Amino acid sequence: MNKIYEKTIRALFFKFDPEKGHEIVKKFARFPIPTFCRDTTELNVRIKNYKLRNPVGLAAGFDKDAKMISLLSSLGFGYLVIGSVLKQESMGNPKPRIVRYENEQSMVNSMGLPSVGIDKFVKNYLDSIIRTDIFISIAGNTLKEFIDIYKIVKKLTPFIELNLSCPNTENGMLFQDADNFETLAENVSKLKDGIIFVKVSPVINRKDAENLITIVELCKKFNIDGITAVNALPVKEKSISVGYGGLSGKKIFNFMLNTINLIKEYSNDKLILNACGGIFNSEDAFKALILGASTVQVYTSLIYKGPCITCEIKKGINVLLKKNGFKNLEEVIGYKSKLSNK
Ligand SMILES: Cc1cc2nc3c(=O)[nH]c(=O)nc-3n(C[C@H](O)[C@H](O)[C@H](O)COP(=O)(O)O)c2cc1C
Repeated sequence: MNKIYEKTIRALFFKFDPEKGHEIVKKFARFPIPTFCRDTTELNVRIKNYKLRNPVGLAAGFDKDAKMISLLSSLGFGYLVIGSVLKQESMGNPKPRIVRYENEQSMVNSMGLPSVGIDKFVKNYLDSIIRTDIFISIAGNTLKEFIDIYKIVKKLTPFIELNLSCPNTENGMLFQDADNFETLAENVSKLKDGIIFVKVSPVINRKDAENLITIVELCKKFNIDGITAVNALPVKEKSISVGYGGLSGKKIFNFMLNTINLIKEYSNDKLILNACGGIFNSEDAFKALILGASTVQVYTSLIYKGPCITCEIKKGINVLLKKNGFKNLEEVIGYKSKLSNK
């Protein structure tokens, strides 16, 4: 199925500017389609008091304005991360702001968080036909913006992801600094309903690692439920208007695994982890799950491999469960650390 996608739809879309293809899909995405990709109970995942039907999520950024939920929720995902949404409407960075590295199945984007703003986002959300669980990703330039949006979106879904790690806006990584994050976590936790995740950047050096360890401690202290790791990796890129952006896809897979490993080591099993970054198949997903991720999220692989990727990953995980003697996904999650604790 992937080969057909690659030779037809992808071949056509890749002739256009990367954003053009996305705009075309958006026009047709207001309606659901029949779901052919069924779920099995072995792949159910517990997130505190909630149950996701499977662990494969769509990462934030694909449907920033909640315009494609009806179509996307027909594709077999266990959940969709919608957003990141900002309080006010924002144009994002000037174009061109996406470049593909086709041979490396990676890309760099410097979208700069374009958003219709929270009011239109809520309207789009309420107009959607929703057939799977929804996480809403929110971003803010100030503490007040984060708090104002949080108060609104927590009424829509129990699952909220705070985007601390946008690599391509001026203030996109402000709240990943441990001191700023402490203020954010303390304030959000006072208003908390449901589940809160924070989304972090990949760890590249020792300083990043130390900062992330502090974030992990603060999450535990302020009752933040989990971490999504990772956002795109900051890089320089001349062919993008602003000259820099975030790298995603295969090239960041190992950064993602290392970051998940580090968080797992310091979380004392108190945080739920979502692995995101360069996941292209069930083997990739399994590596992250066995390290301790409860779910996996995809974005760039959806562009390169098409909508069948969800089904392929789910089917492949089921095969890997059987092959490795696991009864269900719950037995797999964090298996590696359970082994080393024996
Ligand atoms: C075009 C584009 C836009 C993105 N926008 C967002 C966003 O709004 N919020 C966010 O948290 N992550 C955003 N991301 C990052 C992805 O959610 C994901 O963390 C990253 O691409 C790594 O996963 P992948 O290798 O599967 O693509 C964006 C990524 C891309 C490629």
